[in-house]
Amino acid sequence: MKPVIILGIESSCDETSASVLRNREVLSNNIANQTIHENYGGVVPELASRAHQSNIVPVVNAALKEANVSLSEIDAIAYTLGPGLIGALMVGSSFAKGLAISNNIPLIEAHHMKAHVLAHFIKANGQKNPELPFLCLTVSGGHTQIVVVESPTNQRIIAETRDDAAGEAFDKTAKILGLPYPGGPLIDIYAKEGDPNKYAFPFADVGKLEFSFSGLKTAVLYFVRDNLKTNPAFIEEELPNLCASIQNNIVQTLITKLKNAVEETGIKRVAIAGGVSANSALRSALGELESIGCETFIPNFEFCTDNAAMIAVYGHYQFLDQNFGSLAAAPKARISF
Ligand code: KG4
Ligand code: ZN
Repeated sequence: MKPVIILGIESSCDETSASVLRNREVLSNNIANQTIHENYGGVVPELASRAHQSNIVPVVNAALKEANVSLSEIDAIAYTLGPGLIGALMVGSSFAKGLAISNNIPLIEAHHMKAHVLAHFIKANGQKNPELPFLCLTVSGGHTQIVVVESPTNQRIIAETRDDAAGEAFDKTAKILGLPYPGGPLIDIYAKEGDPNKYAFPFADVGKLEFSFSGLKTAVLYFVRDNLKTNPAFIEEELPNLCASIQNNIVQTLITKLKNAVEETGIKRVAIAGGVSANSALRSALGELESIGCETFIPNFEFCTDNAAMIAVYGHYQFLDQNFGSLAAAPKARISF
């Protein structure tokens, strides 16, 4: 049978990415990061849209070239319809539509959060693909979810956050510590030199499966503010211990809820996905689930944070179902799961 070749395009936040997959095998996965947001303490939507506009053509061209695939060989173009920043999504969707019309290629609309989960079906060296069904903890900058994956096209949310996402908890506490955006990866780095048990921040009491991280953010804010009153060098002196303690709180919460989800569902295959799954402490703590008889799955590092390979693999499964998108589709900042 002829292999299925999908071009994926991702532009939901601050990464412009294009990827070509042949039968789920990665031929290319090009990502242009936007460093422009570092000094603003968060992604500035207007600046993100402009950067996508400059990056999209070179990134897609590079992905096709690296894959050594011509447009006439592409079976479908999958692009992120949402959720995400509306202006950023518009750039990817308009470009995908133009490319599709001019080359007579079918379009596929991808759901960004479901695509994070499907990163587990990408075929790449060092990555094992889980059998079905499995549980996936999806932790990104905007979402924190536990999902039951019945099949690549059938996912069901069983838990979400009531307020901040895990990535937001990292980024907002990092901001309190004076670190640039995105602070998550920096907390991970500084935490390596610190004591995770030095400071005990509170855990939210929101039931067995749900998440809440806004209390942690407030606790860190007041704790740091009070200590700065007596020691103006508090953050500077204690940065590794503060980072390790914050990270420990977030990772412990995530692992506890995952264990509860295993208990509730009886599903013993457990995966993590999304930007925060790049966190080294979370990746190693996931091993705790193996001691209760679970098989665990972690995407390769490049498929954790936003990337177009996950959009292309989403497209692969929609293509198999011949589930194509519409030229009239409009991207959405929020989109039902
Ligand atoms: O999935 P993603 O790339 O974009 C969204 O869909 O939101 O996730 C971005 C989030 C940011 O909050 C970032 O700080 C966090 O993932 N992140 C990390 C690490 N790498 C990325 N958080 C903690 N440790 C990391 N190593
Ligand atoms: Zn994402």
